[in-house]
Amino acid sequence: MRYQLKQIHCRPWLLNGLSLKLIESHYENNYGGALRRLNAITEKLESLDHAKTPPYVLNGLKRDELIALNSTLLHELYFASMGGEGKLTEAMAQALARDFGTADRWRSEFMTMAAGLSGGSGRVVLVYVPRDGRLVNQYASDHSQSVVSGVPILALDMYEHAYHLDFGANATAYIDAFMRNVDWKAVYERYEDATKVEPPRPVVQPEFGDLPGVGVEEVKAMLESGRPVQVIDARPRHYLSRQQDIMEGAVWRDPDRIQEWVGELSKSEPVVTFCAYGFHVGCKTAIALRDAGFDAKYMTGGHSGWKAIGAPTKPWNGASR
Ligand SMILES: [Fe+2]
Repeated sequence: MRYQLKQIHCRPWLLNGLSLKLIESHYENNYGGALRRLNAITEKLESLDHAKTPPYVLNGLKRDELIALNSTLLHELYFASMGGEGKLTEAMAQALARDFGTADRWRSEFMTMAAGLSGGSGRVVLVYVPRDGRLVNQYASDHSQSVVSGVPILALDMYEHAYHLDFGANATAYIDAFMRNVDWKAVYERYEDATKVEPPRPVVQPEFGDLPGVGVEEVKAMLESGRPVQVIDARPRHYLSRQQDIMEGAVWRDPDRIQEWVGELSKSEPVVTFCAYGFHVGCKTAIALRDAGFDAKYMTGGHSGWKAIGAPTKPWNGASR
């Protein structure tokens, strides 16, 4: 497969404070150069005999392919980021405010990051992360740095070739000029498209039906706020011999002997139960408790999830019951 040129997205003659000469040079030499390199590398990769190619030769080409491919993608986004009047739309301002506090706070972070790249090279990219449903400003000191699964919606090229012809070493004036030309309507359209990207699929356990789970962060917040909750560590007995700690705020109960301890629980307070990782034992225990009339949920992630967020545990000497 060969990669095809994309027409420059902004109208270069309409840009405010950025010369035609600069934009043409950038598009033809730097974007065009990356595209030509990408196609040459692709051709080379397609012709390789893997049986006769040392792995380092293949990986060198794959590294160059990554750099050239990202360079074409980010240059296309850079040119598509301009062509407006730099006036933030209300809808985009709200999206930025949700994830950065205020739109001004986003702007100040974005521009400060750009200033930090002046005299060096790299890009600042506004990226939507489907996993978290939020926007982040991403620092990229070279073409190969990108947020995995992130959808970039605005890119500022801080390589010297992007501004030196017009601004010399005055990167600050270039950053200001870029911001004056941002096409916020187009950025918002890309944002809307990005929000339609599905997040990675969560763990599904259809065998447990619609059993409600509760995240480790929420359980931690419940305990810290003093909200009443009964937390039952229901790891199988054999797990306890190799995991020498227990979550702060939990009591261990043997999942194989529910009938012996279920009478201790209150039906007026919620119950959270869990096992090692959030799979079968915790879920089965939660189901048994729900069947017995308790408001029980299982903690997603289990004991390992609790530790993975850095939540407190205490030493545990073994099962007491
Ligand atoms: Fe560039």
